[in-house]
Amino acid sequence: MNVIRVTSAAVLGVDASLIQVEVDLAYGIQAFHTVGLPDGAVREARVRVQSAIKNSDLEWPVRRVTVNLAPADLRKEGTGFDLPIALALLASSGQCAASGEGWSIEQFMVVGELSLDGQVRPVRGVLPMAIAAHEAGLQGLILPHGNAREASVVEGLAVLPVTHLREVVEFFRGERDLPEAPPSDVWSDLDEPTYPFDFAEVRGQEQARRAIEVAMAGGHSALMIGAPGSGKTMIARRAPTIAPRMTFREALETTKIYSVMGLLADDVGLITQRPFRAPHHTISSVGLVGGGNGVPRPGEVSLAHNGVLFLDELPEFQRRTLEVLRQPLEDQEVTVSRSLVSLTYPASVVLIGAMNPCPCGYQNSGSETRQCRCTPWQIERYQARLSGPLLDRIDIHIEVPAVRYSDLRDAGAGESSATIRKRVQAARTIQRERFEGLDLHCNAQMRPRELELFCAIDDAGHKLLERVVDRLGMSARTFSRILKVARTIADLDGEEDIQTPHLAEAIQYRLLDRQQSPY
Ligand SMILES: Nc1ncnc2c1ncn2[C@@H]1O[C@H](COP(=O)(O)OP(=O)(O)OP(=O)(O)O)[C@@H](O)[C@H]1O
Ligand SMILES: [Mg+2]
Ligand SMILES: [Zn+2]
Repeated sequence: MNVIRVTSAAVLGVDASLIQVEVDLAYGIQAFHTVGLPDGAVREARVRVQSAIKNSDLEWPVRRVTVNLAPADLRKEGTGFDLPIALALLASSGQCAASGEGWSIEQFMVVGELSLDGQVRPVRGVLPMAIAAHEAGLQGLILPHGNAREASVVEGLAVLPVTHLREVVEFFRGERDLPEAPPSDVWSDLDEPTYPFDFAEVRGQEQARRAIEVAMAGGHSALMIGAPGSGKTMIARRAPTIAPRMTFREALETTKIYSVMGLLADDVGLITQRPFRAPHHTISSVGLVGGGNGVPRPGEVSLAHNGVLFLDELPEFQRRTLEVLRQPLEDQEVTVSRSLVSLTYPASVVLIGAMNPCPCGYQNSGSETRQCRCTPWQIERYQARLSGPLLDRIDIHIEVPAVRYSDLRDAGAGESSATIRKRVQAARTIQRERFEGLDLHCNAQMRPRELELFCAIDDAGHKLLERVVDRLGMSARTFSRILKVARTIADLDGEEDIQTPHLAEAIQYRLLDRQQSPY
């Protein structure tokens, strides 16, 4: 008897590999063995598969059953092998066909968890699986109904959603058709994202609004420091509304991470809005950057990939937790290792932080009614909670003063997010052309080589920087951050050359360096 193979897939990191599910039925005492399945969840598959088959008016073969998942050395986890195992078993025992005129079971990828009554339930990581199926030249993907949208963003692959094991069996018996899921209209999804809030709602705070615009335009990390109720959280939440539209590639990258985590809603094909993640300050370092027992999972910094990671109340985070952010911020990806596996997840984010300047919150707040009551020692201790190396990686720091009542009452509506987004988009287009053929996307990612190439400054600019670097004692690292931010400001201005006003504005965004200087 020839062995029947059903193709399925296993996800490692954010990519999937093909897995062949083979079933061998031998005479002998009734038994069930699995080979190549190290993970507990897969071993439990037997219980679900057996029950699903019996409850679907199908027969569990009275044989010695051996299930082999090949290749054996590839780590497999999850419940998605239920359906391919059941199908291989049913085809091997002659309850449905494995090939017919013009088709073979091997042209399909099959994934899905089975419930005890034979329903097919959604699984994680279907988007990378669909990509793998397409790359392998398979014709169709048979999958749970709830996963159809995420798979159908892959063009040129027939996506065949099912809800019950019986539908699959009847399909391979030639008794029914499986209707194809309609392809996702990806490009129209990408057109204009809508948000429930807008920058127009923020009154006053011109400097902070501008700083966030610069941050989004150049991919710079930013820290807002200011009194309670001044609008820091409000402004940060609006950052994604002015971000440049996602490209298809970016959308695919981000969606893969959510697919692997099982975080995509049924009706979501592709994530087309840049993510905004705001983890609470009690988060662990594993939650933030990824890891965990068993197969390491992506953390918040990867869930924010191609979007904004917002850390509100920054000094409340564990210092150690913030330390671990350094590597992903530098490398735009996280490598998480556990004893057996080491996985890399993308993590390219705009980091936005917010904090009060002191424990009471009112130091230098500009408020006439509320004065800071903190001692210098308390203030120092509070600010020292921030990790120095993390601060070193933040391009922009600004003060957000308390809003005056008159501003709240009189200031007209500010610029809308749509207007700001146009400028940001234009600045990003300039950057894309500038970095054509290089592996960078935005000014924040420039290395010394690119700084040299693209950030030339004239004599007046040199004079200004000389005063700042020498007199205020700024480090070389600060110097390069000023250059990058100035480059972005010039891009927003549509200027080829960095001019003195661009540098002057960039220097303003180094609040903490100025405070720490003895002048
Ligand atoms: N500049 C502003 N324009 C309009 N409304 C504002 C502004 N600042 C604050 N508000 C109002 O005050 C509320 C609180 O602001 P927000 O939470 O952003 O302050 P915060 O700076 O984050 O304060 P905290 O330091 O306490 O976290 C907002 O939801 C908004 O209703
Ligand atoms: Mg806040
Ligand atoms: Zn105070």
